[in-house]
Amino acid sequence: MTIRVEASAVLTAAAPPVAWEFFAGGGLAGLGLARFGIGLANDIDAMKATAFRANHPGIPLHEADVWSLSAGDLSGTPDLCWASSPCQDLSLAGARGGLQATRSGAFWGFWQLIRQLDAAGRAPPVIVVENVAGLLSSGGGADFAAVCQAMAVAGYRVGALEIDAALWLPQSRPRLFIVAMRGVAGPTVPGPVAPFHTARLAAAHGRLPETVRRSWVWWSLATPARRNSDLAALLQPDDAVDWFDTTRTEALLALCAPLHRTRLDRAAAAGARQVGAGYRRVRTEAGHKVQRLELRFDGLAGCLRTPAGGSSRQYVVVCADGRIRARRLTGREAARLMGVDDSYRLPPGEGAALKLMGDAVAVPVVRALADGLLLPALSGRF
Ligand SMILES: C[S@@+](CC[C@H](N)C(=O)[O-])C[C@H]1O[C@@H](n2cnc3c(N)ncnc32)[C@H](O)[C@@H]1O
Repeated sequence: MTIRVEASAVLTAAAPPVAWEFFAGGGLAGLGLARFGIGLANDIDAMKATAFRANHPGIPLHEADVWSLSAGDLSGTPDLCWASSPCQDLSLAGARGGLQATRSGAFWGFWQLIRQLDAAGRAPPVIVVENVAGLLSSGGGADFAAVCQAMAVAGYRVGALEIDAALWLPQSRPRLFIVAMRGVAGPTVPGPVAPFHTARLAAAHGRLPETVRRSWVWWSLATPARRNSDLAALLQPDDAVDWFDTTRTEALLALCAPLHRTRLDRAAAAGARQVGAGYRRVRTEAGHKVQRLELRFDGLAGCLRTPAGGSSRQYVVVCADGRIRARRLTGREAARLMGVDDSYRLPPGEGAALKLMGDAVAVPVVRALADGLLLPALSGRF
């Protein structure tokens, strides 16, 4: 690949920097990049494309396989390319085929485009790749090394942050953000610093080949003020949602393992209203696979997931007025857990809305990265 260093993009009041959003889904990265102009977006999925167009009518969306796009299809020169590439083959929850597998391998389709843009002198000075933390360890670290190496060979400085959306929102959602810069510089620290340079990120960094580590930087990002909302605060009103009947509630709660039953009993005995969240999981106990309901009452929802089957839909359990009620988390509540306000137009059908949000990136995390790292770099403040 030709190595070119473009002149730094300069922010002016009249012209915000331009971001291109790859693997855009419902466009939540773009919502967090509100201080950028979104020049274009790409996603292969028809349902996601419909949701994207409904919420971002002015943004050109290339509804296509990223592998089928070429630089000539995309007009303009971006300041930032954001890629929330598919995670199924990297997720600890799935079979880990890694970055060579069909779905997560779409990253390389994105990278092929960056190479073409580079050859045309149009590569962005900043690239962000978002994925699950499983990318740090899949293939024994080879996948993470391959992504960083591709960026380093192209002349970018590379660093990463592992950020849990729970710092902003009542959802546990750790995600990896690989940030690459060339021709611009963002704020850095000399070595790993909590909370975003986690032990597993430092370990993955330690496994990188020396040639890649020479291009490594530890990006600096301020920790936000303490979160002031919890799961209970963003639920829809009790009379606006469908509760399970007694039989279904009892059958669900009967799946609790002892630890989770104890949590539930403690919440029920607390007196004041208690809100919990949980998933059904298959666990092996005494050599047998059993369905278990695993509950938390710590004010957080569990990480939203794509509802591929019953076990990936989240439950809400409420203890109040001497009784326990249970139901599914709704699509609107999932959107709120991603930091999306209620003006966002969800697709019809709970399954589609939950899939859209389960795949997405949390808006305040993107906003924090934009404000604390990407925009300072593009405005030449570092
Ligand atoms: C992890 S999700 C990202 C969602 C997005 N960041 C959001 O906030 O909604 C990955 C997205 O990549 C899309 N995708 C998967 N394979 C693709 C491909 N080959 N080309 C283009 N998009 C693809 C999926 O449809 C999905 O919306």
